[in-house]
Amino acid sequence: MKWPLPATFFLLAASGWAAGDGADWEAVTAVCGKCHTTAIFEGKPRSWDRWNDVFAEMTQHGANGTTEQLMRVTRYFLENLTLVNMNTSAAEEIAGVLGVSDEVAATIVERRQKQRFNSIADLRAISGVDAAKLEQRKSRISF
Ligand code: HEC
Repeated sequence: MKWPLPATFFLLAASGWAAGDGADWEAVTAVCGKCHTTAIFEGKPRSWDRWNDVFAEMTQHGANGTTEQLMRVTRYFLENLTLVNMNTSAAEEIAGVLGVSDEVAATIVERRQKQRFNSIADLRAISGVDAAKLEQRKSRISF
């Protein structure tokens, strides 16, 4: 089994699989709830690099799923359990955590090269950033 790259997150979004309909979580319970409960990681965010280490380790233990399930798991972890730094993290991680398009994430990366982000308010000022998602996810965002 090969884990999808973060970029496949966009394929998923582009193919119209709605997020937040519960299907992503169902994929997580199907793929990651086979050997231990999901409580082992629920509410315990990590950086995307660290999640990728976990995914690789679980694959060695025998974790498996269909491509669709793995893409859903990827999206679930990015949207719900990943920590990002607005001044250093990759664009695809920012897109996943903020729930914004590729273009908005690229705008954020461009802007930080000129001027650092220092607060949630700085982020809210970027066009295309969803204030409600930002509020909901702010504990996973650092500067
Ligand atoms: C085939 C069985 C199996 C599946 C499926 C599985 N795991 Fe695990 N997992 C294990 C075993 C065995 C351990 C304990 C040994 C260890 O820590 O590597 C473990 C431990 C963990 C831990 C605690 C160790 C740590 O690094 O903090 C986390 C978190 C975890 N799994 C996440 C996941 C996630 C996320 C998935 C789905 C992508 C998953 N697991 C699917 C077998 C599995």
